[in-house]
Amino acid sequence: MCNIHPLFNEFPHMLHGGDYNPDQWKATPEIWDEDMRLARLSGCNCFSVGIFSWAELEPEEGVFNFAFLDTIIDKIYKNGGRVFLATPSGARPRWLAQKYPEVLRVNDMGIRNMYGSRQNHCYTSPIYREKVRIINEKLSERYGKHPAVLMWHLSNEYRGECHCPLCQAAFRDWLKARYNGDLDALNHAYWTAFWSHQYTDWSQVEPPSARGDFKTVPGLVLDWKRFVTEQTTDFIRAEAAAVRKHSDLPVTTNLMTTFDEINYAVVKDALDIISWDAYPYWHSPEGNAIEASRTAFNHDWFRAMKPGQPFLLMESTPQAANWHVVSKLKRPGMHKLSCMQAIAHGSDSAMYFQWRKGRGGLEKFHGAVVDHVGHEHTRSFKEIAETGALLSKLDSVVGTGVDAQVALVYDIENRWALDTLSGMVTGRKGYTDECQMHYHALWKQGINVDVIDMHADYSKYKMVIAPMLYMAPQSVVDAIERYTANGGIFVGTYTTGTVNETDLCYLGGRPAGVLKDVFGLWAEELDVLYPEDKNEIDLSGKRYPLVTYFDVAHPSSAEVLATVTDDYYAGNGAIFKNKYGKGSAYYIAFRSNQDFYNDFYTALTDEFAIIRALPSLPEGVSAHTRNGGFLFIENYNSEAVEVALDGAYINMETGETVNEACTLGAYGIAVLKKE
Ligand code: GLA
Ligand code: ZN
Repeated sequence: MCNIHPLFNEFPHMLHGGDYNPDQWKATPEIWDEDMRLARLSGCNCFSVGIFSWAELEPEEGVFNFAFLDTIIDKIYKNGGRVFLATPSGARPRWLAQKYPEVLRVNDMGIRNMYGSRQNHCYTSPIYREKVRIINEKLSERYGKHPAVLMWHLSNEYRGECHCPLCQAAFRDWLKARYNGDLDALNHAYWTAFWSHQYTDWSQVEPPSARGDFKTVPGLVLDWKRFVTEQTTDFIRAEAAAVRKHSDLPVTTNLMTTFDEINYAVVKDALDIISWDAYPYWHSPEGNAIEASRTAFNHDWFRAMKPGQPFLLMESTPQAANWHVVSKLKRPGMHKLSCMQAIAHGSDSAMYFQWRKGRGGLEKFHGAVVDHVGHEHTRSFKEIAETGALLSKLDSVVGTGVDAQVALVYDIENRWALDTLSGMVTGRKGYTDECQMHYHALWKQGINVDVIDMHADYSKYKMVIAPMLYMAPQSVVDAIERYTANGGIFVGTYTTGTVNETDLCYLGGRPAGVLKDVFGLWAEELDVLYPEDKNEIDLSGKRYPLVTYFDVAHPSSAEVLATVTDDYYAGNGAIFKNKYGKGSAYYIAFRSNQDFYNDFYTALTDEFAIIRALPSLPEGVSAHTRNGGFLFIENYNSEAVEVALDGAYINMETGETVNEACTLGAYGIAVLKKE
């Protein structure tokens, strides 16, 4: 029997619902009752409330009014539903900013923002922290033991940075602690002899700015981003401590797609439960299969942040996202499919932004369960209700984990370092895209993958793939060595192990130190190609295009599996394999197109007998498993497909037994349980 860990023992069901803003409808409370009727009809059982309600809850400083929240939480509970109760720090009331301007952010030009928007507060300001503490403790006192409340939803999508004097002072203190008060160590780490940038006093340290130092001192940029991450995390911990004053409910906050303003690998430790907001671009010209694997990549990233534990899909849109470049509607079927995709990857919820469309404001045309028409007779509502009905049959899936034999390293500090460096190509280096190409090849084959940060534990995986791991601190170099020596299969690429954690290049050739033995080669020079340049890789007679990067590497003990066909490095190795200790290391010295990664990983996962959800899948179809014998098959094609099965299953939606093969309609999903 597998281990089952429901996130909420007192409500062990799939959660379905979303962000609910009843304060926008205070003048028409009959709407609140209608909301409850529609919640029952759509099978919605969970609502995030109070996310942006601060001005309603504290209309004047120190004057609190919880009447509307009392009513709403009771209504939801009486209706059989549950609540994620939010802290309102994401958007502050006007009076607060007017009376205490220090709570507003200062941008990197040194200009203080006006009141407006959201997530526009200073994370350091003692006044802001105090005001948040007060309202959070009040919420904790009043609702912390309410049977309707399952969890605290801290703020909303924490992001951004502040350059105010308070933040700058905190940054300098943070640096003093990090470098043990040793300014010489800081000067060395930042290589400040370049352009005469030596610091002679801590007071000279300023955050990166377009008005001062930015990419000119990469180590400073990296440390600033680390500081912003830690300051935000500290703010989150302070919020959590306040809601825990009278409550022991878990805390979460809603995280975002491949987000890199702050490093979630640090933030995650301040949270009990991971949740995120998914807004894929379905039906774009790029095609649904690519978008599905990008979304899957995110699901696997968020799930792997808390090993063995389900995560939550906190927000998604039932139809269109108003901020997309093109607010395209999900085609019939896609809504249910994308909800079930999250469940397939380990989510125990499918929730929406938003429950009901507001009449005004920025998001009045953002997708919602209840449209301006106000009733349930819409195409979308029917599909939401169908999704709710399926979710209600999945109690036995709740709390089950996802086991993966393969990990893909996607590291935000590495992304910062790549995007900060001057070289390769100007601007973004395509790190996320490259990671997603490797990932897509596994997704196509129905292989469960954990997307992890570079410091995570590699030892439990059969295979670890770390594309473009340009920054590898010594501890990571050692971890890769240990992992491979102990029998792991490690796949690295060009640029691996170029710099340490402050962006100082390793001397003695790439990849860093012992990695030259692990890969059995050293890399001499990295060439960058124009999009018009043509060159190819020859892998056992099959040709693949060489795109953007080629690393001229020389094998010592590595075997050459593929070569490059043209230019002065024609005949040079392009893929290397090296036996190291009990394991093997692969070095892919170039970037290519998706076909290459598909073929390469099909062969590699065959060779090492990596488990697939099903032996073979049609184009545009993927499959994933959750522990306990649950199999999810997802069809991202606009036509029906037939998928061969590897045994007998029960279809959890229909209760029928399926054998040998199963037919999925356009954008169809099958949720099966092994017999
Ligand atoms: C984010 C926010 C929501 C809402 C949606 C719209 O995820 O958390 O408040 O703005 O975007 O897509
Ligand atoms: Zn500040």
